[in-house]
Amino acid sequence: MDIAVFGGGGLGRAVAAAVADRGDTVRIIGRPPSGRHDPAALVGADAVVEASRADAVVGNLRAALDAGCRRAVIATTGWTSDRPIVEALLREHGAAAVAASNFSLGVVLFGRLVDAAVGLFGPLASFDPYLVEWHRRTKPDRPSGTAGDLAERILAGHPGKRRVAGGATRGRPEPEELEVVSIRAGASPGMHLVGFDAPGETVELRLTARDRSAYAAGILAAADWLVREPRAAGLHPFDPVVDELLAGAPVVA
Ligand SMILES: NC(=O)c1ccc[n+]([C@@H]2O[C@H](COP(=O)([O-])OP(=O)(O)OC[C@H]3O[C@@H](n4cnc5c(N)ncnc54)[C@H](OP(=O)(O)O)[C@@H]3O)[C@@H](O)[C@H]2O)c1
Repeated sequence: MDIAVFGGGGLGRAVAAAVADRGDTVRIIGRPPSGRHDPAALVGADAVVEASRADAVVGNLRAALDAGCRRAVIATTGWTSDRPIVEALLREHGAAAVAASNFSLGVVLFGRLVDAAVGLFGPLASFDPYLVEWHRRTKPDRPSGTAGDLAERILAGHPGKRRVAGGATRGRPEPEELEVVSIRAGASPGMHLVGFDAPGETVELRLTARDRSAYAAGILAAADWLVREPRAAGLHPFDPVVDELLAGAPVVA
């Protein structure tokens, strides 16, 4: 496979390393000095990976489509407002893309584990759910997008609970408040912990990221999914890729 990666930052380099590790061809396409990519630089790519910045997604996708590429994995975050344009461009060109704000297989499966745990503990009023996340001090947002998703999953099974903005930084929480705590310290690439506490015992599920290789593996699994057979034009979520992986399809991840 021949993969073109937009963006030579931490994620782009991790994807390029993963592609090279498995013996495929990769080129990193960095920020163009002129502001626009030359489609000639992308000709022949079986798939492009978008790993640059939100305001570059539409332009980069246009360049890839102009070069004849019809498969894309969009890992860049923060471009939600451009989603209708991206969807229209893909359909217009008969192209398919997988887009997700988190391509870690562990995160997807952790979400499903939390759903199962919430199904078990949710009906038991004696177990009080809580959520802790820890990221590097320089991470700009809190709580993380993944913590927000996990909180929604917990609330879905605890109808008596609700989220309170800034709840964990105020005084004693009300009984119905879901306690969500963010730690911003050091260099942690990401830790999420979901717990259920009862008077006599505690059950905790914890996901710890070590580096960006987990994202790279999921991104390549998505590229493989696109290449393996024709997919409908437009945007696809990551879940069908994971489902095929679980079903034993030959996805490398
Ligand atoms: N979906 C996931 O699982 C996942 C995981 C991790 C990160 N992300 C997201 O992926 C994106 C990249 O993350 P990162 O950590 O690698 O960020 P980063 O270190 O800031 O790297 C971004 C790179 O993109 C380059 N760039 C800017 N405009 C470009 C353009 N038009 N074409 C090509 N390259 C361009 C930047 O170059 P300059 O420095 O010259 O501007 C920089 O080298 C972010 O949106 C991040 O939130 C997603």
